[in-house]
Amino acid sequence: MKKIIFVGIVALLASCAPKTTEVVEEAIEVSYPTAEIGQGKGLYDAKCQKCHKLKVVDNYTTEEWATILPKMAKKAKMEDAETALVQEFITWELQN
Ligand code: HEC
Repeated sequence: MKKIIFVGIVALLASCAPKTTEVVEEAIEVSYPTAEIGQGKGLYDAKCQKCHKLKVVDNYTTEEWATILPKMAKKAKMEDAETALVQEFITWELQN
């Protein structure tokens, strides 16, 4: 009897645990093709609406972003590595 309960608990744990992470990973994968783009989006949301509302990426062209992003990255006090991630996100967003 004890053994059956034990097996039951293990099966329960096994059936719950992986499912949640799978669902979360799937959600991230569906929205963004790479981790860098996902991180870029996270930075964009976190750093780019402190002074103004979050801008719609598609409202500006690649050429416009080439001058806007360096200017805004400076304003947001982002490091080069962070700016590169945001650039990845913007580039992807403009293509989609
Ligand atoms: C410290 C304040 C501040 C932060 C942080 C900031 N911005 Fe801005 N942003 C401004 C101001 C002020 C303007 C309008 C004046 C200008 O164009 O310089 C502006 C304008 C813009 C525009 C419109 C530019 C145009 O020519 O129409 C875009 C797009 C933009 N910001 C994107 C961003 C992005 C992306 C980030 C994050 C990397 C960001 N901003 C972070 C202050 C900020």
